[in-house]
Amino acid sequence: MGKLRVAAAFTALGAVASILTGCGRSDSAATESELDAAADKRAGELVSQLTLDEKVQLVHGTGMPLMARTMGMAVPPGALYGSGFIPGIPRLGIPDLNMADSTTGVLVSDATTDVTALPAPIGLAASWNTQLAHDYGARIATELRTLGYGEGLGGAVNLASEPRSGRTFENLGEDPVLAGALVAARTRGTQSQQVIGTIKHYAMNDQETDRATIDAQTDERTMRETELLAFEIGVREGQPGNVMCSYNKVNGTHACENPYLLTEVLKNEWDYRGVVQSDWGATHTTEQAVTAGLDEEEPGAAMALPPEMASGMGSQPGPHFAVSLKDAVTSGLVPMERLDDMVKRKLRTMIRLGVMDNPPAPGGKLDLKAGAATALDVARKSMVLLKNDSIGTSPALPLDQKVRSIAVIGGHADKAVLSGGGSGQAGGASGLFGCQQPPAMLFGGCAPWHMSSPLDAIRAKVPGAAVTWTDGTDLVAASEAARAADVAIVFATQWQTEGQDLVTLSLPGPAEDPFNQSYDQNSLVDAVAGNAKRTVVVLENGSPVLMPWHDRVHAVLEAWYPGEQGAQAIADVLFGQVNPSGRLPLTFPTTDETVSPPPDSGYHQGLLIGYRRYQAENVAPLFPFGYGLSYTTFRYSNLNTTTRDDGAVTVTVTVTNAGSRTGTDTTQIYAGLPAGLGEPPQRLVGWQQTTLEPGKSQEISVTIPSQRLATWDAASDSWRDNPGEYSFHAARFAGDPDAPRSSVRLH
Ligand code: BGC
Repeated sequence: MGKLRVAAAFTALGAVASILTGCGRSDSAATESELDAAADKRAGELVSQLTLDEKVQLVHGTGMPLMARTMGMAVPPGALYGSGFIPGIPRLGIPDLNMADSTTGVLVSDATTDVTALPAPIGLAASWNTQLAHDYGARIATELRTLGYGEGLGGAVNLASEPRSGRTFENLGEDPVLAGALVAARTRGTQSQQVIGTIKHYAMNDQETDRATIDAQTDERTMRETELLAFEIGVREGQPGNVMCSYNKVNGTHACENPYLLTEVLKNEWDYRGVVQSDWGATHTTEQAVTAGLDEEEPGAAMALPPEMASGMGSQPGPHFAVSLKDAVTSGLVPMERLDDMVKRKLRTMIRLGVMDNPPAPGGKLDLKAGAATALDVARKSMVLLKNDSIGTSPALPLDQKVRSIAVIGGHADKAVLSGGGSGQAGGASGLFGCQQPPAMLFGGCAPWHMSSPLDAIRAKVPGAAVTWTDGTDLVAASEAARAADVAIVFATQWQTEGQDLVTLSLPGPAEDPFNQSYDQNSLVDAVAGNAKRTVVVLENGSPVLMPWHDRVHAVLEAWYPGEQGAQAIADVLFGQVNPSGRLPLTFPTTDETVSPPPDSGYHQGLLIGYRRYQAENVAPLFPFGYGLSYTTFRYSNLNTTTRDDGAVTVTVTVTNAGSRTGTDTTQIYAGLPAGLGEPPQRLVGWQQTTLEPGKSQEISVTIPSQRLATWDAASDSWRDNPGEYSFHAARFAGDPDAPRSSVRLH
């Protein structure tokens, strides 16, 4: 069937539906629940017209076009360049559905397509900014739709309980409330552009080592109060059309055939109406998975990978649904009603989000200028100033534009900024700097870079100054360049990627990252710090890094993987055109030994994830969760709490800009629960951002819903409000000793 006929079918069916789906109508009259009900009804009617073969066709993918095209293999008609494809049913106006990874930007194998590459989600998390998360999702979704993709696979929200995980950069840090709020906002942004959003990898998927077989052994209370809380907030507040279940097992059962996770919690308790989709190759059975609640198998067809690549993916089971679901239904092993429910979930999602009646068409032109503006905005708001010592009477940063000489050293800063690897990278990353890897290597290997030169951006700030470049491979050359300049700026990188964990949080050298790192970075920083008048370290990384040289440098700027506009944003912060406002979304430890537990030991830390453990065990981190400096200073005063009948608590506090520059503060509210409940000392329960001019004050107010103060009671399978004395702290970071506090009796 030609394109025109398909389009005509969509239009005819769409006439009624467009009144209800949100495209080009005035929907002020239709409430969300009316739209839901209409989508359910229409999906049900469509299901009743489908044959068994058509139903089965709609609940599994047809392989991975991205991979197939890269390997020169054929793809089904209609499949583009993304990670998944489900062909439509033209006779009923059900369009083809192309899916693409979209963690930091659209990831497609079409090398001629230039897309916007945003900073990594861990940087987005450092912004603590839900509006920015919405913009992030909306930007990528606009590009997905323009290129023909109706479903985006971004939206990872696994907590960084093991910060050495290779995918820490794709996620949103270690706190469930922060991560959940951000992924919900991102999802709303994605779906505002009529693209199906995904929240993943559900659940307890905190490491890459043995990712297909590892069993996350964990008790219910731990799950519900930590990782599952992030998903719960994301699902309830973001209403994603898609939830991707993960590779690992949870308490002995693979996540994609785990009835507790998929049906009991996600579908029944959280009232999730969308699709449960397997991660790529995470389906192990048909009947068992379907009965447990899995709705869609991906990639759904054998990938025919060469063995060395397949081993990188873990075991590559399947396909299952394409092969045995029809028989399972015919023989009664899987009831037809269950298959109907699976199909209906897919169709109602497509209807509800506008993909059914306004399916994306490939070949549109991207507005890369608008994309660059979002990338720059996110990068500027993601940077965290970790250290800024004074030299004489003035702080090391921001740099004075009258500076006469600067030595820029290391990290390929003459050309590019680093990106994370695997499915979490955006298309368009390139520039391998001579890196060679074995041809079939799927994970690891050569790091992708964005061609955005910090050296050029720094030079543009100070056209009159001598700005030298030294690549860092020769310690003597680097220290001499540092000695000769007013300021030395060392760029240090830590590459991480899907499919492999970090062996250490130490900055990698040639032993840890043989493909990308030719010199010892800690020695480089030491050599520079020993000779420079002023040493500034800029970090490009996805997980915390250890800083054995921390006392010997004057300033440290955390830039994460800063995306295609990274160089500009770094220079803007270094020179003070942007006052840094990022706050750490995860704790930076002093040594690997203070990170618990070792990567292969599951979830033995219980509730003590991240800052909770540092506080409970009285371990001092290098930089705490929530930490980040500004070029001004903020003070908090007049903390008050009021309680509401529904158990919510409102905390008000006055924030004052006590410094001499305009700046944005993130006031964090932590709560201490009554003693004897077995809870960590404090948990984050809310936050508020304020931008203030010097000398100005503002009262902020944070309302904390009762669930944020509750504990999970496994016996009654519900959240429990506990009577007793609660403390509330208005803090700059977790464990802030100067935080004003107030105690209140609740319940
Ligand atoms: C990853 C997912 C990704 C999928 C499709 C898997 O290996 O875990 O995050 O969306 O591949 O590329």
